[in-house]
Amino acid sequence: MKKFFAIPFAAGAFLLSNCSNPPAAGTTPAADTASVKKAYQQTIGGKPVSLYFLTNASGAQVAITNYGGRVVSLVVPDKNGKPTDVVLGYDSLSHYLSKPEAYFGALIGRYGNRIADARFALDGTTYRLAANNGKNSLHGGPKGFHNQVWEAVQAGPGTLSLQYVSKDGEEGYPGTLTVKVSYTLTDNNELKIDYQAETDKKTVVNLTNHAYFNLNGQGDSTITDHLLNIMASKYSAVDSTLIPTGAPVDVAATPFDFRKAKPIGQDIGADNVQIKNGLGYDHNFVLDRVDAVSSVQAAHVQSVKTGISMEVFTTEPAIQFYSGNFLDGTLVGKQQKKYGHRSAFCLETQHFPDSPNQPAFPSTVLEPGKQYRSTTTYRFGVVKS
Ligand code: BGC
Repeated sequence: MKKFFAIPFAAGAFLLSNCSNPPAAGTTPAADTASVKKAYQQTIGGKPVSLYFLTNASGAQVAITNYGGRVVSLVVPDKNGKPTDVVLGYDSLSHYLSKPEAYFGALIGRYGNRIADARFALDGTTYRLAANNGKNSLHGGPKGFHNQVWEAVQAGPGTLSLQYVSKDGEEGYPGTLTVKVSYTLTDNNELKIDYQAETDKKTVVNLTNHAYFNLNGQGDSTITDHLLNIMASKYSAVDSTLIPTGAPVDVAATPFDFRKAKPIGQDIGADNVQIKNGLGYDHNFVLDRVDAVSSVQAAHVQSVKTGISMEVFTTEPAIQFYSGNFLDGTLVGKQQKKYGHRSAFCLETQHFPDSPNQPAFPSTVLEPGKQYRSTTTYRFGVVKS
């Protein structure tokens, strides 16, 4: 029943934007990429920022800026072959600079997700981080990797390599960390993200990507109609500040049971303390199978409207499912679309939140001489009903 599309579509089929803003990446013909790029070309702190386009033989296109390593657009065909941009984002670099807290499409580090009370200890030394989420630290702090300019090299049409050196003490973390991330768009319409990092002092690392997806097409009003399947029998229960309260608990007989595909909206309004704490879903799902070398499947999502499906494969032990609960219509994105409540979801592959303070969780410590490696692949297809 499930079919991955092999419908090549001409670059000329990309839609033209008709507003006075610069055209959004992913909505213009390939020939016009120069004018789309212009809206990203700027020098920040002496470092050049630009927009890079990945293309493949199947006609998909991904645009990525080296400001925060952000995926700006990801265009794949729907069940009728219509090019559809499935990620939220902005039309220009200036929008990203003025709303940096949205994390749209960004690389997240040095520590994705939350660290309780914005501090942790390593070998008896306490490191203090910026508290940017109530009393906790979220996504590496205000000047996390999402707000840094990465060095970019595009080796071929389908690959972009990014590098960022995070100095010892940056955002409170110990050790100079050299991070390399490569984005690859394969001919199977997979966006593969490979992460590597090395440190010169013991530190903690948890890298992810924060794409906000809507498989109905970005700007569509909701994702609650999407069918979601997460390969997880356990999830992390959290307190009201979204810090895990202990060992993972069973999803069975709770709204968190996505072991069989169900609409995201089916149980999102349940009278359940965890749903209340998350204001919906904003939880760490612990994957049933983990393979730190070859990826395993973590999730499958499908839009009933467009037929577009997305599978997530990862080497990470867990995935944060966030149902866009904090989107409230105030952010206006590509093509002037208002991003309303639950108009996107995130599936962030990761180690568990707050691991540096919870010794029972898989360790996020990186030592000098060791290499951090992680791979996540988002594979797009269509399911024809
Ligand atoms: C967090 C949410 C947060 C969002 C910001 C997610 O990873 O779990 O709580 O609001 O990132 O984009």
